[in-house]
Amino acid sequence: MASKRRLSEEKHECPDPVKTSIPEQAAEVAEELSKTHPIREDSPLVHHDAGEFNGLVRHKTTASQAETLENGKVNPFTGQQFSEQYFKILKVRRDLPVHAQRAEFLKLYQENQIMVFVGETGSGKTTQIPQFVLFDEMPHLENTQIAVTQPRRVAAMSVAQRVAEEMDVKLGEEVGYSIRFENRTSNKTILKYMTDGMLLREAMEDPNMSRYSCIILDEAHERTLATDILMGLLKQVVIRRPDLKLIIMSATLDAEKFQRYFCDAPLLAVPGRTFPVELYYTPEFQRDYLDSAIRTVLQIHATEDEGDILLFLTGEDEIEEAVRKISLEGDQLVREEGCGPIAVYPLYGSLPPYQQQRIFEKAPESHNGRPGRKVVVSTNIAETSLTIDGIVYVVDPGFSKQKVYNPRIRVESLLVSPISKASAQQRAGRAGRTRPGKCFRLYTEEAFQKELIEQSYPEILRSNLSSTVLELKKLGVDDLVHFDFMDPPAPETMMRALEELNYLACLDNDGNLTALGRLASQFPLDPMLAVMLIGSFEFHCSQEILTIVAMLSVPNVFIRASKDKKKNESNKHLFAHPDGDHITLLNVYHAFKSDEAYDYGIQKWCRDHLLNYRALASADSIRAQLERLMTRHNLELNTTDYESPKYFENIRKALASGFFMQVAKKRSSGKGYITVKDNQDVLLHPSTVLGHDSEWVIYNEFVLTSKNYIRTVTSVRPEWLIELAPAYYDLDNFQKGDVKMSLERIQQKIERANELNDIRKDKKHKHKNKH
Ligand code: CDP
Ligand code: MG
Repeated sequence: MASKRRLSEEKHECPDPVKTSIPEQAAEVAEELSKTHPIREDSPLVHHDAGEFNGLVRHKTTASQAETLENGKVNPFTGQQFSEQYFKILKVRRDLPVHAQRAEFLKLYQENQIMVFVGETGSGKTTQIPQFVLFDEMPHLENTQIAVTQPRRVAAMSVAQRVAEEMDVKLGEEVGYSIRFENRTSNKTILKYMTDGMLLREAMEDPNMSRYSCIILDEAHERTLATDILMGLLKQVVIRRPDLKLIIMSATLDAEKFQRYFCDAPLLAVPGRTFPVELYYTPEFQRDYLDSAIRTVLQIHATEDEGDILLFLTGEDEIEEAVRKISLEGDQLVREEGCGPIAVYPLYGSLPPYQQQRIFEKAPESHNGRPGRKVVVSTNIAETSLTIDGIVYVVDPGFSKQKVYNPRIRVESLLVSPISKASAQQRAGRAGRTRPGKCFRLYTEEAFQKELIEQSYPEILRSNLSSTVLELKKLGVDDLVHFDFMDPPAPETMMRALEELNYLACLDNDGNLTALGRLASQFPLDPMLAVMLIGSFEFHCSQEILTIVAMLSVPNVFIRASKDKKKNESNKHLFAHPDGDHITLLNVYHAFKSDEAYDYGIQKWCRDHLLNYRALASADSIRAQLERLMTRHNLELNTTDYESPKYFENIRKALASGFFMQVAKKRSSGKGYITVKDNQDVLLHPSTVLGHDSEWVIYNEFVLTSKNYIRTVTSVRPEWLIELAPAYYDLDNFQKGDVKMSLERIQQKIERANELNDIRKDKKHKHKNKH
């Protein structure tokens, strides 16, 4: 009753639920087929003539029928004999908590169009449920696919790899993944793991998501921006497509909220198989949580019983530093204290896949009776997205990197912030998967009780929404105010997004999508970058802008010379261009593609020049994809002669045409810069190659720390800004101050120049008429 009452309080619109009806006859046929076909060894289900399934509404496979298929000799999806390895993994899979509920799951799945499924992390949701669905849907016979969304790229790749192994197929064939700029699927793919952002992009082309018979939104509790939008869209799609099934999958127990939103969809909760976790707090506040975390890990290794350690940190740099220190000091413990061996692995989003896989390796074997241990140092990925077996000790400093957005000053930034209570509980839970464990919280109990918020805020409340608004407009959602958001974003954020898109000419003054906006939405880029790229041929440098955009889409290509965090040296100066970092990136790419680098051996060349090979290779592939998109849309690819004095100027102008909303001006008094229009004090990031005498700069990123930095900057001329973005640089909308005064002076200069021009033209005209 309680949930009913709440239902009427919420404003979500709920039409009558659609139930899939399976005509009795068809169901019988389905049952017969699923009994007989797959077991016929000479004629596996795959590649079977789909014709004979005409009229069949939906397969319906019971749990025991599916299990019989799984136990058989032939893989029903490929027609190949199962390997030995397959049966080994199958045994493990049968022990997962979700397996016990297969029949119950199938019943709910078959009887409802939408369902919510929750279970402890590690219970088998992500890897098993999609396979349960596969056996029920047999998508290869119906020429459909199953989609499973993940908030993180790493998770999509890693889980697809695992499930391909479980199903005894090659990754990229029956089971594949799709993330931005990387698609490992083929025409055989029936199960597709993908980032939620990718499914959203697909929806722009195919609003009914017609190729899927079932969509699973996994990790829904993370409430990413893309998942939230997908939920809103899918809520409408299921009405248009009664044949589409939707499963909302979540780790935590905020299931009721999802149920309510989806019109009282039924819930299946897998009871977790968790062991008690003892919690330890520090008696006082830890000033240096990184150091404190490293000490704690080493102490656990020296004193605690067998069991692996999971340490949560916030990002790549910190993680690599911790891995190095723990390995070093761990080895010392082995030598000096007779401790067991220790293997330390990092885990973060931009880590190459083969290195990610190492977290699943077993702990090193010990020969002296003291436990050998695996230590994984991870970002939030290990909180719910990836399950690592064998973890008994969790070290939780209580921080993660989170996106924050301040619409007033239009700054979106990643900020190391305290986690929520729900996150802290999830983290602790990682210690109790296989046996009773311990969680060491590096904060006081009081801080946990009084300072941590209950739940993290959904991303939609912490983001710049310009990409999202453009996507929604492209999806035909014009009335953004009445879109059924699970948590509606702040009106101010929405206004900012509309305004930004209007300045970019993606939306007209009435908020309608323009031709440019429609085109920009085709590019998997931030609208600003897309607009810049589309317009770059007018500046005769679309080839160069293409490269710069690709280079801005990958992690930092420069590797620090010294591992010391304080020293910021790299080999950047070798490629530095006085006009700034964007052109420096262009130089790096050109050097990377040169014959010289190739002849030298490209990977060695990168190593010797302290460049990240993987990032550069990825930029190269992104560039190729974006180039194809440009060609497809008939956008000219051009360049200015390198010898021409205009070469760099053209590139800088093109950059200004996109980045005109991210500009800072050097303060006329004192040091530092001030951002244009939003008047924030900023400093050039120490990594820049730009000389500090550039008066006007565009910047790629606003970095919020104790000081505010702008990173990746290039110098521009203010008259370009006024000329290229007159609406944005309408000085009536500027606050009094340094920036406005300078711009006014420049404006007057431009006007005088124009007047002179007019007079000259006029004279010429009169002169001509005389003769
Ligand atoms: O989604 P959920 O957290 O419920 O669990 P899952 O990701 O499906 O993982 C279930 C089990 O699969 C884990 O406990 C691991 O034992 C195993 N697994 C693995 O061995 N290797 C992977 N790459 C992913 C999962
Ligand atoms: Mg999962």
